[in-house]
Amino acid sequence: MKPKVLVTRRIPETGIRILKEHCEIRYRDALEPMSREELLKEIRDVDALYCTLSEKVDRGVIDAGKNLRVVATMSVGVDHIDVDYATSRGIYVVYTPGVLTETTADFAWALLMAAARRVVEGDRLIRAGGWRFSWAPTMMLGYDVHGKVLGIIGFGRIGQAVARRAKGFDMKVLYYDIERREDLEKKLGVEYRPMDEILREADFITLHIPLTPQTERLIGERELRMMKKTAILINTSRGKVIDQEALIRALKMGWIAAAGLDVFDEEPLPTDSPLINLENVVLTPHIASASYETRSKMAEYAASGLISILKGEVPDNLYNREVLKIRPLSDVKMI
Ligand code: GLV
Repeated sequence: MKPKVLVTRRIPETGIRILKEHCEIRYRDALEPMSREELLKEIRDVDALYCTLSEKVDRGVIDAGKNLRVVATMSVGVDHIDVDYATSRGIYVVYTPGVLTETTADFAWALLMAAARRVVEGDRLIRAGGWRFSWAPTMMLGYDVHGKVLGIIGFGRIGQAVARRAKGFDMKVLYYDIERREDLEKKLGVEYRPMDEILREADFITLHIPLTPQTERLIGERELRMMKKTAILINTSRGKVIDQEALIRALKMGWIAAAGLDVFDEEPLPTDSPLINLENVVLTPHIASASYETRSKMAEYAASGLISILKGEVPDNLYNREVLKIRPLSDVKMI
């Protein structure tokens, strides 16, 4: 009998093709995420779940999946999954590290440039009929990017990819991570600094950390007040690593100059969020990895990881390796 896989929402065809080869798919071909009620119902009899970061896979969902062997998420972040609990239940978790690194780094730069040089504000001004003179000496002044100090908080794959791009802008690059990466400092031309020093010194700060209990609200009022008044904060990681209320105060009161945000405390961003009425913030709807090429690779990588587990093989995108000791692959194998 073929394994049953629940695919919670529309994904690029590359992923579906791989799953179809080996599994019976229950495919919800819809743009919106699956509701919790539907997920609790649909997961009951499947062997594998293919989800996205918009579906919370908590204890309740995991317990409802009586036959569940593997959860594949089409994301590099796994904060929407209770991984510890899944592991304790012998459920394998696969994700999509690496394939979205460069695309996400490109996008962090897009936000940085847009916020520094007021690209979106300029677009809004023209569309609103507010462009009155062809050129004016003091119109829409922004901040130079080249030659400035870039602070990278979180120096994993994406943080490093952001650093590589800074070379072309002749920037001084500082980084902070819980693990100092002396091996990379010379190669990438970056300097390690404790986080507080980065906050004080950097003109641009970009966050590339996973959301964990330790990183939740890492950037709050204290940190924002330490930053330069001319500093610009970029976030393409998870909204909850910033205290969003404090950030709104910082942007309103001028503790910092601007921000570029792809992720938020609550997504979609509520339409009455004060962020929407602030000119000095560029807002995008969690699309940092959203290129045709990368989303296709992500869909494929999550699917191939899921299939490997069901074949009794260890894929390189297995997130919870400890699970191998709890439930051997021979118990999970179905293909
Ligand atoms: C996107 O935010 C991801 O985690 O892949």
